[in-house]
Amino acid sequence: MSRKTMKRILVTGATGQIGSELTMELRKKYDGDNVVAAGHKRKPSEKLLESGPFEYVDITSKGNIEKVVKEYDIDTIYHLAAVLSATGEENPQLAWNVNINGLYNVLEVAREHDIRVFWPSSIAVFGPEAPRINTPQDTILIPRTIYGVTKVAGELLCNYYFTRFGLDVRSVRYPGIISSETPPGGGTTDYAVEIFYEAIRNRHYTCFVREDTVLPMMYMPDCINAALKLMEADSSQIKHRTSYNVNAMSFSAGELAAEIRKYIPEFKCEYEPDFRQKIADSWPMSIDDSVARREWGWNPKYDLASMTRDMIEKLKKRFAEGNF
Ligand code: SER
Repeated sequence: MSRKTMKRILVTGATGQIGSELTMELRKKYDGDNVVAAGHKRKPSEKLLESGPFEYVDITSKGNIEKVVKEYDIDTIYHLAAVLSATGEENPQLAWNVNINGLYNVLEVAREHDIRVFWPSSIAVFGPEAPRINTPQDTILIPRTIYGVTKVAGELLCNYYFTRFGLDVRSVRYPGIISSETPPGGGTTDYAVEIFYEAIRNRHYTCFVREDTVLPMMYMPDCINAALKLMEADSSQIKHRTSYNVNAMSFSAGELAAEIRKYIPEFKCEYEPDFRQKIADSWPMSIDDSVARREWGWNPKYDLASMTRDMIEKLKKRFAEGNF
């Protein structure tokens, strides 16, 4: 196979919530040896270590990234390593360093070595000035979190690298991601995952946002599909090089608890909002993703009911196996 058709992929943040599952999916598709998982702080799972190469990479060091890129002759990077919104508010300096300098290093290495890049942005790019219902693709972006600030700056940087250097960098604005494999860490939407673990383990959850808090969410299979579909699309289809809105479902914390109660009737959810409430209140409740649907065929499969059914089934099985 020529270098152009062969895929040699690097996934940063491969031990994280999205990275751990995306890496396994890419390894299924392109063969384990061709997909290098890179992590930093979190310990990699056995599954990740056994199914292909693993490297420790500090994303704030360009040399670290470059070394791996050269060693494995990488032609595509999925750059997922990031500090999320809640951790970011606790340590804004760290969030800036990891999210901005990390992305800058990846883009520079990509420019120098002719590498394609996928980088996730977030609904956190929006602030209270943007319409909160059906937030449009192109609207005012004045986020209030440092995480959102790094995502807006990152989107502009990606767009700059595309227009200035012709770098093939693509991005989606993910909503909260719900998954059963690896828990998220330090995000505002983490409650929508924790609630499942606690419902199964303790039949009780204390939620850190109000019952009526509505946010856009997406189930992991759709999240992975968005990344793969966008990266597989023909270049001519990708008209937006900042980042695409991608929607799947929206529900309140109370509606999620009610859906879980259909499977675990004794489940009790209490609400004790903390500092993350303010972050949630500054984000959209639903987003308009018609541009992504039109330009590269985005089409999510899971809604609240089908996601909840699948989550409960998967987590109950893991719980029964003592693998929680
Ligand atoms: N899930 C992320 C967070 O809550 C949003 O991109 O920080």
